[in-house]
Amino acid sequence: MVAKRLSGVPASGTVALSNLVANLKLQGIDIISFSMGEPDFVTPENIIESCKESLDAGFTHYTPSAGIPELRKAVAAKAFSDNKIHCTAKNVLVTPCKHAIFMSSLAFLDPGDEVILPDPSWVSYEACIRLAGAKPIYIPTKVEDDFIVDPDLIEAAITPKTKMILLNSPSNPTGSVMPCNTIKRIAEIAIGRNLMVLSDEIYESIIYEGKHHSIAALPDMFDRTVTISGLSKTYAMTGWRLGWAIASENNIKELDKLQTHSISCCVSFTQPAAVEAITGPQAEKDAMVKEFKKRRDLAVDLITEIKGIDVNVPKGAFYLFPKYESKVKSEIFCTKMLEEAHVAVTPGSAFGPSGEGFFRMSYAASEEQIIEGLSRMKKFIENI
Ligand SMILES: Cc1ncc(COP(=O)(O)O)c(C=O)c1O
Repeated sequence: MVAKRLSGVPASGTVALSNLVANLKLQGIDIISFSMGEPDFVTPENIIESCKESLDAGFTHYTPSAGIPELRKAVAAKAFSDNKIHCTAKNVLVTPCKHAIFMSSLAFLDPGDEVILPDPSWVSYEACIRLAGAKPIYIPTKVEDDFIVDPDLIEAAITPKTKMILLNSPSNPTGSVMPCNTIKRIAEIAIGRNLMVLSDEIYESIIYEGKHHSIAALPDMFDRTVTISGLSKTYAMTGWRLGWAIASENNIKELDKLQTHSISCCVSFTQPAAVEAITGPQAEKDAMVKEFKKRRDLAVDLITEIKGIDVNVPKGAFYLFPKYESKVKSEIFCTKMLEEAHVAVTPGSAFGPSGEGFFRMSYAASEEQIIEGLSRMKKFIENI
């Protein structure tokens, strides 16, 4: 009874693992989980208060499908000041970040189209591309290059069927931050070969070294780019389901059409709170990034002490993507680590073919958990 388009689309590997971890915890097993793709902080108080005020004021009905005007304006102003993207409220669609990726795949990809993306990449890209009937073309990246994609390999992979290049910086799962020169070179390729770019910038605020650059800010790139970001990671708001797409007015109209026929609009009473998040005090956000950096340094120090592990120092997001020496497949390796050491990490193979032999560790966990979890991991790996 299931439609053909769903065959070949696996369920999310990261969600499957969190379900397994939740199950083991329910059985009373003391699991240390490094599998979470979300900040472990509480959403800042001013944002929560703003949401409560909206509820008390009865702001509980449908909003315009593209989002309340104040939020579209606030996102455009933020994109201009932080990202140097020249845009106005008309270029913004308020939608959960993941839904923006899903809708962009449906709106801009036809069956048979090819989408070039770095490998490894976040789990849902391939699924969204395949659901649209298109094909992912993975470009391998290496730990020794800090997982930065080589633009020459992108160019070599272009065929008459290529429609889009998908970028994600800072990256989930590798934490790599694309340097300005790489982005400029990819922009030249996109312009020269008339390709669209889908740029997922959800981790744009979580950067420890270097700077975030938006490809849509480069000359002649705005009209061919859909820039996606949101509040989930920056303000510890994963459960609020709020993000946005920034694109040409025409492309926003097409995405909005899909939004009207899918979720209608984002939740009403969270949208004024999103304006507060973007325009209000930023001190807690800055403190979270500082804390993540401390944890990254701790995790890198401890994991490099483990024999048989090769890891780089990621410049952004909150993930390490270590390579382990054993020939065991990453799914088996991670299941064994969970069962024997009670430490949950995500198999690298969930993120694409180049992820085999790696695992993803999220350090969005307390220092105590990082210390205890990595001590268990050390014993487990050194015993293999
Ligand atoms: C790279 C990347 N893009 C998009 C998303 C989805 O973000 P949201 O939960 O805000 O929809 C995630 C979530 O983990 C992510 O890691």
